[in-house]
Amino acid sequence: MTEHAARRPAGPDETRSANRAWWDGEAEAYHAEHGAFLGDDGFVWGPEGWTEDELGLLDLSPGMTVLEIGAGGAQCSRSLLSRGDVRVVASDLSGGMLRTAARIDAGREGPPVPLLQCDGTRLPLVDDSVDRVFTAYGVVPFVADSATVLAEAARVLRPGGRFVFSTSHPVRWAFPDVPGEAGLTATTSYFDRTPYVESTSGVVTYAEHHRTLGDLVRQVVAAGLALVDLVEPEWPERNREEWGGWSPLRGRLLPGTAILVTERPVP
Ligand SMILES: C[S@@+](CC[C@H](N)C(=O)[O-])C[C@H]1O[C@@H](n2cnc3c(N)ncnc32)[C@H](O)[C@@H]1O
Repeated sequence: MTEHAARRPAGPDETRSANRAWWDGEAEAYHAEHGAFLGDDGFVWGPEGWTEDELGLLDLSPGMTVLEIGAGGAQCSRSLLSRGDVRVVASDLSGGMLRTAARIDAGREGPPVPLLQCDGTRLPLVDDSVDRVFTAYGVVPFVADSATVLAEAARVLRPGGRFVFSTSHPVRWAFPDVPGEAGLTATTSYFDRTPYVESTSGVVTYAEHHRTLGDLVRQVVAAGLALVDLVEPEWPERNREEWGGWSPLRGRLLPGTAILVTERPVP
């Protein structure tokens, strides 16, 4: 049980161990709450509900090798696998989330998604080995050192390969994380990078980290990647569902998600 929630520092190691345990414990509840919205073989980029079929950000071609990081129940990878023309591996830090992925596969026809348990900041892959790396809301907000995630993605990508990731839009950090009217008034500085941390008896049990849009762009550049697009998906009329602090009310006025499309340049 969370005893304390506050904006306070949390380093890479305590963030990693806290979030691994938190997602292990939360895996089945997360699937029960959001599984229908995500679809067991859906590819949704965020709470707005836009899909990869609609946005086409990965720019896939037949024969490509794709790595998903922070895959959770591997819905996105399952969706790509069902195309039948790309090779996909779904990875996550949390064994609990991957067990949910395996459970989903066990209840379905067709080949299971290949699963890999690893930290998105330390990928167990050789250099220049994949064509696409992506994550929908995985890894990036849940690590203290997102520059390392970008550097790792750049390292394992072949020249010309893409890393595409969605994350909470940084602007959200200035507002209370609630779906209603109270979530429309800025109460915290957008520029305050102090993470949101939950703890029990002084031990970190959950951490989310904030960096501004400028910080993210600088991390892209520092990793040697080129920024192809920064997508700020608008809330579609068709979506009447709330997801935590994301809601139609706030979505009409404020950005909820940022999707960065990056590419490793061909020398
Ligand atoms: C909000 S869930 C998103 C899961 C999935 N992509 C989806 O759209 O439902 C965040 C995921 O990031 C994973 N994660 C957190 N920290 C990670 C890390 N350092 N490396 C890899 N995965 C991590 C969690 O275990 C969890 O599965």
